[in-house]
Amino acid sequence: MTAGPVERAPERYPVTHDVSRHEAGEGEPRTAPNDAWPEVLRAEVVAGLRSRPKTLPPKLFYDERGARLFDQICGLDEYYLTRTELAIMRAHAGEMAALAGAGCVLVEYGSGEALKVRLLLDALREPAAYVPIDISAEQLARVAGAIAAEYPGLAVRPLAADYTGPLTLPELPADVRSSRRVAYFPGSTIGNFHPPEALAFLRGVARVCGDEGVLLLGADLRKDPAVLHAAYNDAAGVTAAFNRNVLARLNRELGATFDADLFRHYAYYNPVAGRVEMHLVSLEEHTVRVAGERVSLDRGESIWTESSYKYSPCELETLASRAGFEVVRAWTDADALFCVLYLEVSAGRRG
Ligand SMILES: C[S@@+](CC[C@H](N)C(=O)[O-])C[C@H]1O[C@@H](n2cnc3c(N)ncnc32)[C@H](O)[C@@H]1O
Repeated sequence: MTAGPVERAPERYPVTHDVSRHEAGEGEPRTAPNDAWPEVLRAEVVAGLRSRPKTLPPKLFYDERGARLFDQICGLDEYYLTRTELAIMRAHAGEMAALAGAGCVLVEYGSGEALKVRLLLDALREPAAYVPIDISAEQLARVAGAIAAEYPGLAVRPLAADYTGPLTLPELPADVRSSRRVAYFPGSTIGNFHPPEALAFLRGVARVCGDEGVLLLGADLRKDPAVLHAAYNDAAGVTAAFNRNVLARLNRELGATFDADLFRHYAYYNPVAGRVEMHLVSLEEHTVRVAGERVSLDRGESIWTESSYKYSPCELETLASRAGFEVVRAWTDADALFCVLYLEVSAGRRG
C-alpha cells in the first residue's frame, strides 16, 4: 500500500519550503521573508526574542538541514540516547506488541527518520494503520513513502503538523478495521517541554488516544552530569551546528540578519531543574532585524533555544498519572540511562 498524501495542518507553521535554498546552509545570501510563515509562528519568534531571557521554540530546529543534523547527532558516540533506546526497543518490542494486541492504529509523534518505530511495526500483530506526525514536512513525506513500501498492506497516513496544537488525525480508508490507538513518542522529545507543557501535551495525547488508548513513551533519565555534558557538547561540533542552524533558518525564511559567527553554542546540565539547557550566546553587543523588528543583544546575552528535561522513574510515573495514564510496564537498560514506558489511558481520566 502506498502512503496517503501528507495531510497538512494549516496556519501553524511554514509548509512551503524551497529545498534548493535549504541545501546552501549557513552563510548563504539572505533572501526575502517567506510569506508562508503563518502570523502565529512569526509572532512566537518575535515575542521570544523580546522576552528575558530571549528564547526560540525548539520546533524551529527541524528544517531540512536541521533534520539531517539531528540524524547525525543520533549516530555520535557521545549521544547515548538513540542507541540506548534502540537497544531497549530491540529487547522488548515483542512484549510491547503483546500488550498492545492485534489491529491497533499506531500514531507516532515526532517521527523523524522513524527508525525505532520499525521495530514496533515488525513486532505488532496486524497493525491497522501508521500515522506519523512531524513538523518537518519533507522528511515526513520521504519517510512515510519508505514505510509504505516496506510494509505493504499497512495504511500509512502522514500528518504534517505542529503537535503542540490541536490535532485531527487523518481519516483512515473505509476498509481499515482497528482495535485501539497506540501513540508512540520516542527520542525523549517529551524532555523538550517544560513540565507544565509536558503535562498539557500528555493530556492531549490521552484525548487523541481515547478510551483503551496506549502511549509508549521514551524518556531520558537523570544521570551523571558529565555524561549529559558530553552528549550535548560533542567533539565534532554537530550539536553546535544544529543549534546555530536555527539562525540560518531565520535568515532564510524570516528575512533575519543574524551572523551565526557572533554566537557560541553553550549547553550545560542544571541539576536543580533537572534539564540540559542549550543556548546561543552572543559574543558581542549587536543588533539584528527579525521579521522587520529590531532585536538588541548584549555581549554575553543568551538566546535559550532548547531544554532537555531528564526525569527520575518516579517523576515520570507522577507526570503520567497526572496526565491521565497508568504505568503498566517500564523498561530500562542495564545502566539505567533511558526508559521506555507502556502507559494506558486511565479509566477515570480527566479531560
Ligand atoms: C528529537 S527528534 C526525535 C526523532 C525521532 N522520533 C527519534 O526518536 O529519533 C524530534 C522530532 O520531533 C519533530 N518535532 C519537534 N517539534 C515538533 C512539533 N512541535 N510538532 C511536530 N513535530 C515536532 C522533529 O521534526 C523531529 O523529527
